[in-house]
Amino acid sequence: MEHSDTHSLVTRQRRRVLITGGGGQLAGALATVFAGDVVRALSRVDWDVRFPAPPEVGEPQLVLHTAAWTNVDGAEDDPQGAAEVNVGGTTHAAELGAPIVAYSSDYVFDGRKGAPYVESDSPSPLSAYGRSKFHGEAATGERAWIVRSSWLYGPTGHNFLKTMLRLGADRDEVAVVADQRGCPTYVGDLAAASHELVEAGAPFGVWHLAAGGDCTWADFAEAIFEEAGLDCRVKRITTAEFGAKAPRPAVSILRSEKDAPQLPHWREGLAACLAALAETR
Ligand SMILES: NC(=O)c1ccc[n+]([C@@H]2O[C@H](COP(=O)([O-])OP(=O)(O)OC[C@H]3O[C@@H](n4cnc5c(N)ncnc54)[C@H](OP(=O)(O)O)[C@@H]3O)[C@@H](O)[C@H]2O)c1
Repeated sequence: MEHSDTHSLVTRQRRRVLITGGGGQLAGALATVFAGDVVRALSRVDWDVRFPAPPEVGEPQLVLHTAAWTNVDGAEDDPQGAAEVNVGGTTHAAELGAPIVAYSSDYVFDGRKGAPYVESDSPSPLSAYGRSKFHGEAATGERAWIVRSSWLYGPTGHNFLKTMLRLGADRDEVAVVADQRGCPTYVGDLAAASHELVEAGAPFGVWHLAAGGDCTWADFAEAIFEEAGLDCRVKRITTAEFGAKAPRPAVSILRSEKDAPQLPHWREGLAACLAALAETR
């Protein structure tokens, strides 16, 4: 993706950038990447996005909306609660009136295509979480980059990588689902690609930003153990054997049919995330 006005990058004023869901893993990565701006990251205690923004939120010039109900299985028990955050919260973030980057998910797709999804493919979510993210997309307003990504992980928060590191240190074997295929995406890479999208003045609309390559959860777990030097086997099981509450797409690989910023291959993202984790220890 080319920058529409490279010169403006050098001379432009620092923007007032608001990050919602400031305590989350993607929010942390975005705060780092947008550090050239005046960034305010608001966590749930500062602004619960189920309600309109309090006056202290002010008038940001760019909103990076990461606040979300991300408990996929929990949303099956409380679909209304998930919608209040993922649809209502997005409505309130869009009401601030600034251009917004609104994050959505590969789980808006049902996986039945059996091949990578591009931006023009029609969503058909299988789960309450997926439906809430899809309806959230419709609440973003006219000036929104709707960024769909997948299988996020980073050095902070709760995610698959951190779970595997913990289990892999304690056990000889871990059972992991081997019949779902997607793109594990490092939040540092997603944040950098989001920055590139905004800086390039890309047209508003849906953008697929996910790691290069694809794999199953079991492949990802094996790579984590290999890369982290953990002596733990992966027992490959089916989605049915794992028995999660929410249905998930079998194939939710995201690719772009547009001139989207390219993210590194998922193995490179994994190495970068482990390096970032090592720095924090
Ligand atoms: N994680 C994934 O695999 C994945 C995949 C594709 C897309 N996405 C999307 O990417 C975005 C960022 O995800 P993430 O992985 O960074 O999630 P995360 O680490 O769970 O962060 C989400 C943040 O939103 C906050 N939040 C929840 N309800 C809120 C509310 N009512 N008001 C304000 N803040 C609230 C959470 O606060 P608490 O800590 O207080 O709950 C949390 O800090 C989300 O839109 C998510 O749907 C995620």
